[in-house]
Amino acid sequence: MRKRSMPLGKVYSLLEPGPVVLLSTAHQGKNNVMTMSWHTMMDFEPPLLGCVVSARNFSFTALRSTRQCVLNIPTREIAAQVVQCGNVSGRALDKFAAFGLMPMPASMVDAPLIAQCYASLECRAVDMRLVNRYNFFILEVVKAWIVSKCSNPQTLHHRGHGNFMIAGEAVKFPSKMK
Ligand SMILES: Cc1cc2nc3c(=O)[nH]c(=O)nc-3n(C[C@H](O)[C@H](O)[C@H](O)COP(=O)(O)O)c2cc1C
Repeated sequence: MRKRSMPLGKVYSLLEPGPVVLLSTAHQGKNNVMTMSWHTMMDFEPPLLGCVVSARNFSFTALRSTRQCVLNIPTREIAAQVVQCGNVSGRALDKFAAFGLMPMPASMVDAPLIAQCYASLECRAVDMRLVNRYNFFILEVVKAWIVSKCSNPQTLHHRGHGNFMIAGEAVKFPSKMK
């Protein structure tokens, strides 16, 4: 997928609806990816977000050590791979190869973008104070990518136990929120 640069001030609009994301990392020469739905926006610009990455996950070690990751936002076309990335650890498996995901170099971090995802957010961990207590990382988006044509992305929204909603109809109401 070809992506264009995206204004950082618009990043919140990708994440606020809470889509399931693929968190990619690179650590000690190895790329990894895990499925994540526990994330939240914290500020508009620079975009800040918080996320919970369990200390049991291989990705935790990579994120804590490198303080870098990419949040890739998938759509329904790769839903099966998204769930697979959440069912198995990357400790002994190259999930990119196993599930046919294509890594692409990022511009500001060592972790890879995922080609099949419609948007990719390069992030740096900027506050680690809640990691020991809550496994909660505060990330700043330092570069955002989005495909050129994607008016109504069919993102995945986790409802627990393998159940997902797929984003559908778009509606607009008068609102004071940015
Ligand atoms: C829909 C879905 C959402 C998930 N959300 C999270 C999450 O927010 N935080 C987390 O630590 N694990 C989450 N997981 C579980 C991890 O993706 C899973 O433990 C994964 O195998 C970790 O891979 P790793 O060991 O390669 O890092 C989720 C899994 C699924 C299927």
